Amino acid sequence: MRTQVGIVGAGPAGLVLAHLLHRQGIDSVVLERQSREHVERRVRAGVLEHGTVDLLTEVGLADRLLRERMVHHGLELLFEGEAYRIPLRELSGQDITIYGQHELVKDLIAARIATGEPLLFAVDDVVLAGLDGVTPTISFTEDGARRELHCDIVAGCDGFHGISRDHVPDGAATYYEREYPFAWLGILAQARPSSEELIYAYHDRGFALHSMRSPEITRLYLQVRPDEPLAEWPDERIWSELRSRLARRAGGWTLSDGPILEKGITAMRSFVMDPMRYGRLFLAGDAAHIVPPTGAKGLNLAVADVLVLAGALDAWFRSGNSALLDAYSQTCLRRVWRVQHFSWWMTSMLHRAADADPFTHQLQLSQLRYVTSSRAAATSLAENYVGLPLPGRG
Ligand code: APR
Ligand code: PHB
Repeated sequence: MRTQVGIVGAGPAGLVLAHLLHRQGIDSVVLERQSREHVERRVRAGVLEHGTVDLLTEVGLADRLLRERMVHHGLELLFEGEAYRIPLRELSGQDITIYGQHELVKDLIAARIATGEPLLFAVDDVVLAGLDGVTPTISFTEDGARRELHCDIVAGCDGFHGISRDHVPDGAATYYEREYPFAWLGILAQARPSSEELIYAYHDRGFALHSMRSPEITRLYLQVRPDEPLAEWPDERIWSELRSRLARRAGGWTLSDGPILEKGITAMRSFVMDPMRYGRLFLAGDAAHIVPPTGAKGLNLAVADVLVLAGALDAWFRSGNSALLDAYSQTCLRRVWRVQHFSWWMTSMLHRAADADPFTHQLQLSQLRYVTSSRAAATSLAENYVGLPLPGRG
């Protein structure tokens, strides 16, 4: 097999890249380890920045998203039993969109199939070779047969646990990492949202987040220990813990509950690889960087990366000019570190330190009081949360 760009991974990064390349007349093949059903059912985050929605709309990927999404003009910070609204639209001029990542992935897969361009599911043992040459290859097993894909460029969009990054020789990149001493227990519930907007709660018992997917489905998260066994969290314990952490001192607010459809525990880490490239291998999305979910940035950052990569590949395939490709990593990392800082800042402000250090606690309260009383501080949160302009777009 031969193509121009071999894409490993059919998550948001790989599928949006494939679509942008297709619009530019650049051939690609997308290789995905999991089945289509698995990828389309995998519950992940659900907040889209306005820039992500604008881009998806521009390239014809947002029809269902625009019909079914929820648009939020603000969010709430809750601490010491009091809720404070951050008016995102008023402060930043922009909104956020609530639309499940797996719903977006369904739309991206449908769009890819509609182009007739290759998208191979359930491929195994993907191995990259010749990355420091001019004709890299991707070998893989499909239906028991070993196959080889010859390409000009390999895009590693296979997430944090993918194989692309493993092909970068030691010493060829610097890795920045931070593990957080807590995790998120997340649930999807058949329950109507208890508030119009997201609620981020700082509580003595730990962080909690009230989010949603639709007028019938809520998405809720609890801070737990990194090694917390899910078996110790029967449904009723989850609901009672959420009720405690989301309670208002004044009362008058109740958390509506319902059957829990899905639950899981997600580790919290920050990770950055620099450069996000090795020879003809370009990494994008979670394959190159991870942010803790507190800032709702993972998916949006993946889309920002592939927007830069698609533009750089367009210039290179058209004119052989590699300037944008050579600047790919640096261009992306400017945004990556801004988003890393915002996600670390939100995480540090809103999670109860494992050692419950009283000094840290007072600092967190001071930060929360400041961001909910100072228009300048609230505006900074708002503009980062709704999303700073995408690279090359304002
Ligand atoms: N071979 C082929 N495909 C692979 C391999 C492999 N060896 N390893 C992983 N994959 C696939 C995964 O099954 C997944 O479908 O790569 C895809 C990577 O997708 P994501 O993990 O969604 O990563 P990305 O596209 O970068 O999107 C980042 O996803 O996880 C969320 O919170 C994260 O929102 C962020 C977004
Ligand atoms: C979600 O809806 O899943 C969600 C929302 C906000 C976050 C993280 C996840 O910060």
